[in-house]
Amino acid sequence: MRVDINAIQKVYRRYAQGYDVYFGALLQPGRKAIIEKMHCRSGDRILEVGVGTGLSLPLYPLGVYVTGIDISREMLARARARTARLHLDHVMALRLMDAESLQFPDDSFDKVVAMYVVSVAPHPARLVSEMRRVCRPGGEFFIVNHFQHANPVVGGVERLFAPLSRLMGFHPDFSLENFLRESGLDVAERTPVNALGYWTLLRARNGKTAARLGASRAVVA
Ligand SMILES: C[S@@+](CC[C@H](N)C(=O)[O-])C[C@H]1O[C@@H](n2cnc3c(N)ncnc32)[C@H](O)[C@@H]1O
Repeated sequence: MRVDINAIQKVYRRYAQGYDVYFGALLQPGRKAIIEKMHCRSGDRILEVGVGTGLSLPLYPLGVYVTGIDISREMLARARARTARLHLDHVMALRLMDAESLQFPDDSFDKVVAMYVVSVAPHPARLVSEMRRVCRPGGEFFIVNHFQHANPVVGGVERLFAPLSRLMGFHPDFSLENFLRESGLDVAERTPVNALGYWTLLRARNGKTAARLGASRAVVA
């Protein structure tokens, strides 16, 4: 069952106030791990999709340029408040936007990151396609998410909760294999993170090349 944008906005309007208490410390090791894997360099242009309340924002090193987007006004308001409170000068912009229809030109960023978002978004493959479009050729994607557990008992319990996706705002039975097949991600590294390694960090190269892009545009024209 797909979770549509309205349902996401409704759920995260409800979650926004308590989000940091419930999902702050619990998921913070994964946020730290992903930013370490990004090996950020001074001047890197980074896009974080589904930035939420901005729990990751203080973790980026100085010298990078971070843009965050989210579809939830209430989550974003908290990210903005955090940015102002902590004087996070590396945060360039926090914008209300659908990650499946990004309002940025092609090749705008060096690195694009999605933390705990792909099993929430209505069309994960569309989201990755947009991440790919706005990432420069040779750039990298970083994703951390929970995927359906390989253990049949745990996976079975997750499937039991699947009908509650709309209510919970994410898919507990989100399959890694289907996600990789549908999104066509070129995964270079896969690392278990957070408690019991229950979540997975993916690092993927942007296989898009400037030449190929030019060729596909020529065909479309
Ligand atoms: C589980 S929260 C993760 C928030 C944050 N990344 C973190 O580490 O805590 C999922 C976030 O993704 C956002 N989201 C879901 N679908 C989205 C979409 N299509 N476009 C933009 N944001 C989206 C939700 O509004 C929510 O803030």
